[in-house]
Amino acid sequence: MIKFLDLYAQYEGMRPEMDEAIAAVLRTTGFINGPAVSRFESEFAEYLGSPHCVGVANGTDSIEIILEALALPAGSEVIVPANSFVGSSEPVSRAGLRVVFADVDPHTYTLDVEDVRQRVTPRTAAIVVVHLYGQSCDMRPMLELADQHGLKVIEDCAQAHGAQYEGRHVGTLGTAASWSFYPGKNLGAYGDAGAITTSDSELARRCRMIANHGRVEKYNHLFEGRNSRLDGIQAAVLSVKLKRLPAWVETRNRLAMGYCTRLKDIGDLVLPVARARCRHAYHLYVVRTARRDELRAFLTSAGIETGVHYPIALPKLAAYAGHGQAMEEMFANRADGMLLSLPIGEHLTDADVATVAEAVKRFFTLSE
Ligand SMILES: Cc1ncc(COP(=O)(O)O)c(C=O)c1O
Repeated sequence: MIKFLDLYAQYEGMRPEMDEAIAAVLRTTGFINGPAVSRFESEFAEYLGSPHCVGVANGTDSIEIILEALALPAGSEVIVPANSFVGSSEPVSRAGLRVVFADVDPHTYTLDVEDVRQRVTPRTAAIVVVHLYGQSCDMRPMLELADQHGLKVIEDCAQAHGAQYEGRHVGTLGTAASWSFYPGKNLGAYGDAGAITTSDSELARRCRMIANHGRVEKYNHLFEGRNSRLDGIQAAVLSVKLKRLPAWVETRNRLAMGYCTRLKDIGDLVLPVARARCRHAYHLYVVRTARRDELRAFLTSAGIETGVHYPIALPKLAAYAGHGQAMEEMFANRADGMLLSLPIGEHLTDADVATVAEAVKRFFTLSE
């Protein structure tokens, strides 16, 4: 059996340190806004090279809080990639803004800058750039475009812990960045957790206040905020895992290279392309074939777990029926039936990758 994700094996590999870190929070009862939270915020900021990190309750909230802190005019348009998790677009609408979907590039699956350019209108206020599958968007032209039109750039880094763009960590490139530490992410908590990073101290201060009831100190509230805080136990878990993140990303890259060499020129299989001079974090290794469902069933019967990210492009979700972009000629609207995520992660070995690759080859050979 080759698992898609094995969080128990990961825990086993660091059990004494993890148990002690959790027990330390229990002993000191620093459950909310305790020392474990500020420690993780500093460690993560330092790891990224970001001046500020604000822990929040989850990745979806982090986007919504950033948008609220930016105080964009109500009803402004925000451009979001058509292939992503709904957590990239949902906070836009919840913040009283209008989602406009843009297409993704068929090689890297990140936002297509030219398509974004076509969709900018006088009402556009921001772009949510999603570093999808662990790969950075092409930030240089994206930031140029944003500059030309005075747009804010929110980096959705939920899948990109460890990814870099031309030597800089993602999450340090735009106006602000959102992070999810959902358990299955490259850096995952043992429950929901998230963070915001930014180099703008005023924005960081506002985000921190919004996430903590708009207060400056206990019972002194400057405005109505909300409750979206990173809790102490999750922060302690994240600190233990952060130390291991570079090695895990290294392993993900090695395994991805294994897939890339073994899966070349097979049937109609399209392999992901890594951007030059950038560090892919390979949260997911996504291939594409017109026979996705058959291949997936074949791999399942061979004991290989796979995933689909995502089976329905965002414009085609019932939630966005009113946006009228479901029928638009976009790569993302066609690709959702063809994408297949092969297992990748530090729980796997090179031999596992060879086994998966052999099974994929067998599928295409048997049906030739
Ligand atoms: C690209 C993307 N954006 C946003 C989110 C939302 O994060 P969360 O589940 O922590 O709210 C996720 C993950 O689940 C994601 O993959």
